[in-house]
Amino acid sequence: MHKLIVIEGLDGSGKATQAALLADAVRASRKEKGQRPVRQVSFPDYKSDSSALVKMYLAGEFGEKPGDVNAYAASAFYAVDRYASYKKDWQGDYEDGVIIADRYTTSNAIHQCSKLDESQWDEYLNWLFHFEYELLGIPAPSMVIYLRVDPEVSQRLLASRYRGDMSREDIHEKDRAYLQRCQKAAGYCAERLGWRVIECCKDGQMRGIDEIQREISAIASPLLG
Ligand SMILES: Nc1ncnc2c1ncn2[C@@H]1O[C@H](COP(=O)(O)OP(=O)(O)OP(=O)(O)O)[C@@H](O)[C@H]1O
Ligand SMILES: [Mg+2]
Repeated sequence: MHKLIVIEGLDGSGKATQAALLADAVRASRKEKGQRPVRQVSFPDYKSDSSALVKMYLAGEFGEKPGDVNAYAASAFYAVDRYASYKKDWQGDYEDGVIIADRYTTSNAIHQCSKLDESQWDEYLNWLFHFEYELLGIPAPSMVIYLRVDPEVSQRLLASRYRGDMSREDIHEKDRAYLQRCQKAAGYCAERLGWRVIECCKDGQMRGIDEIQREISAIASPLLG
């Protein structure tokens, strides 16, 4: 049984937090059943040289605005980083195990659609999935769990993360209009591609981490048997 579960969401939506908790939960249940352990991976793979172009892009070396690198070029930067990580790090674990990924090809879908006109989204998405899953040959996810956060709440989370020092934001985070378009693109992708949506906010606040985790585990557990 090989499974790849992707935790997706906009910046600061809790992906790393929830991916780690889901991995713990799956690990505990698989250990009881004597199954192979679960691997957690995260993208971009900043500790690897394969993320060099992503780092250059996010630092603004190709231009200060996300749109200075077109959707297809930026997608390629992130895609080759995933390819390298798959080949060098987790291909063997995937073949008979469970991989939990914090971001994946689906992050390209969200972030790069936002640079394109809506009339171009389908063409881009078809190209993206063909490129990564068929031509490069990295695995397609078994399930994508999208952590939806209200835009106002995510702005607040980002501001508190940098404790007011907004110069530390990367070129995506700096561009509020870009982030709003990402939110719209993510909604479109979730609907079109059958992502499982978790509503992470209630009454203008984030819901509790444990409460969100229980919902994610409940969604993922039928897949894991
Ligand atoms: N449900 C929640 N309620 C309140 N705070 C949360 C919640 N989930 C995560 N956080 C906090 O929000 C911050 C961002 O979370 P996390 O790093 O998991 O998000 P992320 O989606 O991986 O972010 P990034 O997009 O920057 O990688 C962390 O400080 C985390 O502890
Ligand atoms: Mg993260």
